[in-house]
Amino acid sequence: MFKKVSPYIGEYKKYTVWAVIMMSVGIIANVLPYFFLYQIIAPLTRGEHIEASFILVRVVAIAVAEIVFSITYVKGLEFSHISAYNTLKNLRVSLQGKLEKQPLGNINELGTGRIKKVFTDDIDQVELLLAHAIPEGIANIAIPLIIIVLMFVFNWRLGLLSLVPIVIGMFAMGMMMKAGFAQMNAYYESAAKMNNMIIEYVNGMEVVKVFNKDGESYKRFGDMVKSYRDFTIDWYKVCWPWMAIYSSILPCLVLLMLPFGSMMVLGGTIALDKMVLVFCMSFAVGPSVLKALNFAGKIPALNYKIDELEKLMEHPPLKEGTSGFKGNNLDVEFKDVHFGYEDTEVLHGVNLSLKQGTTTALVGESGSGKSTLAKLLVHYYDIDSGNIAIGGQDITDMSLEALNDQVAFVSQEQFLFNTTLYDNILIGKPGATKEEVLDAARRAQCNEFLERFPDGINTQAGDGGKQLSGGERQRISLARAILKNASIIVLDEATAFMDPENEEKMNAALDEIVKDKTVLVIAHRLSTIKNADKICVMKEGNCIAAGKHEQLVDECPEYKKLWDASVSASTWKVREA
Ligand SMILES: Nc1ncnc2c1ncn2[C@@H]1O[C@H](COP(=O)(O)OP(=O)(O)OP(=O)(O)O)[C@@H](O)[C@H]1O
Ligand SMILES: [Mg+2]
Repeated sequence: MFKKVSPYIGEYKKYTVWAVIMMSVGIIANVLPYFFLYQIIAPLTRGEHIEASFILVRVVAIAVAEIVFSITYVKGLEFSHISAYNTLKNLRVSLQGKLEKQPLGNINELGTGRIKKVFTDDIDQVELLLAHAIPEGIANIAIPLIIIVLMFVFNWRLGLLSLVPIVIGMFAMGMMMKAGFAQMNAYYESAAKMNNMIIEYVNGMEVVKVFNKDGESYKRFGDMVKSYRDFTIDWYKVCWPWMAIYSSILPCLVLLMLPFGSMMVLGGTIALDKMVLVFCMSFAVGPSVLKALNFAGKIPALNYKIDELEKLMEHPPLKEGTSGFKGNNLDVEFKDVHFGYEDTEVLHGVNLSLKQGTTTALVGESGSGKSTLAKLLVHYYDIDSGNIAIGGQDITDMSLEALNDQVAFVSQEQFLFNTTLYDNILIGKPGATKEEVLDAARRAQCNEFLERFPDGINTQAGDGGKQLSGGERQRISLARAILKNASIIVLDEATAFMDPENEEKMNAALDEIVKDKTVLVIAHRLSTIKNADKICVMKEGNCIAAGKHEQLVDECPEYKKLWDASVSASTWKVREA
C-alpha cells in the first residue's frame, strides 16, 4: 500500500517510525484512565470501603496519563509532519527533475496551470495523508487490537460480543468503500476536468470578452461545475447510508455486551467487576477503530494522486548527451528529419544545410513547419528519425548547456521574466558588464521605447512580460540574443511586430550582428530576407526548393507566389471611401 510513497520518504522514514511510536504511547496513555476508573469502580461494585487517598492517587494518575497523551500526540504530529513535508519536498524535487528532462516543447504544452496544480494542489493533498493517515492510522489499529486481545484474556465471551459491532461496522465501511472505489476514478476525472476548465476559462477570458462569447463560455463553465456537483452528491448518496451505519455502530462496542453481559452477571457466570473492566476498556476501542478505518479509506486516494503525478511526467525524457561541443565548424546539417508532435507527422524528411557564416532563410505558408524546424535545432523536442548536427556532431550527443552555448534562439512567442528589463537582457550573458547590456539594448532598437518608460531599462517586465507590447518584448529578447553573441542564431519572425521604420533599423542591426555567424531566419515579409545567402521554401513539412532569391523567383512557382503576395501586401492601402 505504501509502495508508491516509500521511495520518496527516503531517509525520513525514521521520523515516521517515531511518529507511530509516539502516537501509540499517546493512545495507551489515553486508554489507561479506563483502568484507573475500573480500580475505583470495581471495589464499589463489591460494596468494599475505599480510602480517599486511594481515589486521589488514581485521579492524579488519570491526569498524568492525559498530560502524557497530549505531549506524545503533539510530538507524534511534529515527527509525522517533518517526515511528510520532507517527503513532499522529495516528491517535488523528483518531479522537477523529471520535468527538467522533458522536452521543453512538451512543458510549454502542459501549460502553467496544470504544472502549478501538480506542484502545489495535488502534492499538498498528499500531505494530509502522509502526516495524518499513516502514523495515526497505524497507532489507531495497533491499540484496539491489543485491547481486544486483553478483553478476550479477561473474559472471552465478552470479548466475542464486543467484536460483533466491529464486524458489522467494518462490513458497512467495506460496502461504502466498494461503492466509492467504483466511482473514484470518475470522481477524480470529473474534478480534474473542472480544474482544467477553470484554468482554460481564466486564460481565455480575453478571447471570450472580445468575441462576445461570454454567455456560451460561461454556460460551458457553469455546466461543468454543475456536473461536478451532481456527480459528488450522487456519490455521497450511495455512501451516506453505509457511513451512518458504521459511524453509529462502531463506537458502540457495548451494544451486545450490555444485555448479554448483564444476563451473565445475573446468572453468575461472570463477576460484576470483570464486566465493568471490559466495559471500560471497550470505550477506548470504538473511536480508535473508527479513526483507523477513516484513514484506511484515504490510502487508495494517496496511491491515485501519486500515480497521477507520475503519469503526468511519463513522457520519455529528452535524449540529452553529456559531451561538450566538439563540432569541427559551425555548419548545421538537417538530414532526412522526420518529426511529429503527436501522432501526425509534421516534417517529412527535411534536408537542409546551413553553412558557417551565411544566412539561410526559411519561407513558406503558415503551418508549413518553419518554426518546428527551428525549434528542433535548439532541441525543444527529439526528432523521430534522421539527424541534426553542428559541425558534424549530432545535437543529441551534446548536453543542452553545450548546445545552448552555441545557439541563440529568438522564438515566435516571447517570454520575459517578471523582473527588470535589464535583468531580462542579462540572461543572455550572466556576468556581462552594464555597458554590454546597454549596448545590446541599443542595437536591438530598444532605446526608442525604453526612453518612454520612467524607469527606463529598470522597468519591471510584469508577469510573463505582459507590461510590454509584442514588438517591445521581441526587441528585449533580441537584445538578449545579441548579448549572448552565440555562433549560431535562429530568428523566428524576429521583426514581425515592427513598424517599417524600426524594422529597417533592426535589419541594419541584424546585418551587423549576424556577421560571421551561422544564421537561420524565418520571416513572413520576404523583403527582409531577399538578400539571404540561401532561401529554403517549405511546403507541408518538406523543403521543396532552395537557392537564391532571383533563382527561386524564376524557378520555383511556390516561391514566386509567396513573393508576389508579400510585395502586394507591402503596397496594400486601406480602400478610400
Ligand atoms: N505544439 C504543437 N502540437 C501539435 N501540433 C503542432 C504544435 N505546434 C505546431 N503544430 C503543427 O505543426 C505544423 C507546423 O507548425 P509550425 O509552427 O512549424 O508552422 P510555421 O510554418 O512556423 O507556421 P507560421 O508561419 O504560422 O508560424 C502545423 O500544422 C501545426 O498545426
Ligand atoms: Mg512559425
